[in-house]
Amino acid sequence: MASSSTTLLSLFLFLFLNLNLSESRLTLDYYQKRCPQFQQIVQQTITSKQIQSPTTAAATLRLFLHDCLLPNGCDSSILLSSTPFTKTERDNDINLSLPGDAFDVIVRIKTALELACPNTVSCSDILVTATRDLLIMLGGPHFNVYLGRRDGRSSISTTVNGFLPKPTMSISEITKIFTNRGFTVEEMVALSGAHTVGFSHCSEFTSEIYNNSSSVSSSYNPRFVEGLRKACGDYRNNPSLSVFNDIMTPNKFDNVYFQNLPKGLGVLKSDHGLFSDPITRPFVETFAADQDRFFRVFAKSMEKLSLLGVKTGRRGEIRRRCDQIN
Ligand code: HEM
Repeated sequence: MASSSTTLLSLFLFLFLNLNLSESRLTLDYYQKRCPQFQQIVQQTITSKQIQSPTTAAATLRLFLHDCLLPNGCDSSILLSSTPFTKTERDNDINLSLPGDAFDVIVRIKTALELACPNTVSCSDILVTATRDLLIMLGGPHFNVYLGRRDGRSSISTTVNGFLPKPTMSISEITKIFTNRGFTVEEMVALSGAHTVGFSHCSEFTSEIYNNSSSVSSSYNPRFVEGLRKACGDYRNNPSLSVFNDIMTPNKFDNVYFQNLPKGLGVLKSDHGLFSDPITRPFVETFAADQDRFFRVFAKSMEKLSLLGVKTGRRGEIRRRCDQIN
């Protein structure tokens, strides 16, 4: 009798644990049966959006970073709009420069998917898949995207502080943000190579280019500083003024960003810091010389980023609209 109840208990535990494991496991082919049109709808939508607005890809890459690095992980909490009662992550100062095109491409994909497969695909899975496919459109490496994330139900502006890197931080402060989330220094430097595409608003670096006495200013190439000053001259009246992060090949995902840094052609203070800091510099030099290595480490780090704090099972929901909880 005792042995049959032990067997029953073991069976129950086995089933319970297995159920929980299968609920919490992300898989590469999660939507293959649940929504066979998933990949095709993502690809069609991002292609037409990127052709119409070529800034979409870099914008989405940054949006994805800001979603995953926050304490609640890749749960698309960054997409939630504020309500009269709650100011969400999206409205934290650091996120106000996230471009509308990135939010828009996710809304477009979600709308198409709700028509094809209602209540099936999470906004978090859409964001990571769109990021992967847009990265490829820019010429970047492919990374594995495991699917089955569920969307978060909470997003609070104040939780953002201290979790996202700012260009005014020292390299050791920035490093801490990434190592606290399980990245190595090499992976952090590789991820920063995302600045091979996209823009920075003048306000993000004007204190460097108008301040001749700072040691950082002296790491800028003098002719480049002249160009930046010209481009940003009217930034107080026109806060939307911005410059390419990689002036040599701005729309191509390659390792030229790393080749720019030793020449003083980085835009942000933190870009210069990666080359001047003795701990990060060797990785900058390796990636500048070896694009394959950059792509390999970048892809591995993006996969890691995409798995931070993912929610599965009852810990999340499939949002009907990406900007609102159900
Ligand atoms: C190392 C620390 C980092 C700092 C301090 C930093 C800071 C910034 C800032 C200030 C901008 C300009 C935003 C604007 O003016 O609109 C920017 C742009 C961008 N960042 Fe970073 N970032 C860092 C790392 C990363 C990482 C790890 C990624 C992705 C994996 C990334 C992806 C991007 C992209 C793609 C843009 C261009 C966005 C656009 O064109 O709309 N950044 N970053």
